[in-house]
Amino acid sequence: MTPIVKVFMPPKEILLPAVESVLYSGMVGEGEHVYTFEDKFKSMFNIDNGFAVSSGTAALHMALILSGIQQGDEVVTTSMTAEPTNTSILQAGGVPVFADVDAKTGCLDIDSIVDMVTDRTKAILIVHYAGYVIDVQALQSKLETTFERHINIIEDCAHALGATIDGITVGTIGDFGIYSFQAIKHMTTLDGGFIVIKDHSLNKIAKKIRWFGMEKGVERTKLDLDILGYKYNMNNVTGIIGKIQLDYVEKNIKAHQFNAEYFNENLNNISGIEVVTLEKRLKPSYWLYTLLCDDSENVIKLLGGIEVMASKLHRPNHYHSLMTNFKRANMVNLDSFYKRLVHIPCGWWVEEEVRNLIVDTLKRG
Ligand SMILES: Cc1ncc(COP(=O)(O)O)c(C=O)c1O
Repeated sequence: MTPIVKVFMPPKEILLPAVESVLYSGMVGEGEHVYTFEDKFKSMFNIDNGFAVSSGTAALHMALILSGIQQGDEVVTTSMTAEPTNTSILQAGGVPVFADVDAKTGCLDIDSIVDMVTDRTKAILIVHYAGYVIDVQALQSKLETTFERHINIIEDCAHALGATIDGITVGTIGDFGIYSFQAIKHMTTLDGGFIVIKDHSLNKIAKKIRWFGMEKGVERTKLDLDILGYKYNMNNVTGIIGKIQLDYVEKNIKAHQFNAEYFNENLNNISGIEVVTLEKRLKPSYWLYTLLCDDSENVIKLLGGIEVMASKLHRPNHYHSLMTNFKRANMVNLDSFYKRLVHIPCGWWVEEEVRNLIVDTLKRG
């Protein structure tokens, strides 16, 4: 079965000696390999400022705290995402308010975001869903022209490493951006994440939040704990894995994009199936490929018949009993998107033969 997501590991002969040297170095916690991973990651993805952390969820929680979320503050968010996007809002004491999505991409709809903003809105949490892209600059200018105050935008780029808008890396346009290096993402450090922070003056406090609330490098007996922090650091073992993963990630992202563009061209004009294309300036990194189908269940079955896994993968978060009572827009677009949605694999592991088989099977119907 061709899976819809897959763990990428660099070749054993390269990865294992490097990991072994760190494991037996006596320095397995946060240290040199975390900091050099941060530098390499930032330079590869043109990120000006940010820090490696233990997970994407940790990065989200930190971004929400740094946005000043207090108990009861509202965060306009999406239901069409993995659960941690929204559980992190609850963890920070905030209240998710669900805006509707774009019926084609599943990313938030800008007008619906604006409609859901109230005086209690402290931040807007957008997700570049499945690696497709929401136009962050358009959202920023809409917010600027509609509201007198600045509302922080947090970009959840867990699905979107390598996606760009006008050539600019997603996650660096809003006030904060987050990445996930969990097992099945474009790159993995087993678990890990990254927080991008636009305002450098928050760096000191961000580093403290990452480390129990304490400043690293200060003698423990002289240190005053004055804010609540968490155990959100990356360690040297995952740091070295990350550095080696970075040697492969550009090639892997390009393979996702190549396969997706192939599907965009070859699955176009099939009755009952719609492909999702964006304006040229929005360049997705296609963690998953999105098809919109009149009969999604049948398409999933059809692809199952040729040993290709297809699926909706996520469950809209407002369907969960934990989140069903939060304020939400009329979700007409989400309902239509989710009904028609089928994700198919388009990652680095999908080779020509499978690509052609998918296209032929869907053409035959
Ligand atoms: C959209 C989205 N946001 C956040 C996360 C959380 O990332 P992590 O698993 O690294 O905590 C995930 C994935 O798990 C995700 O898919």
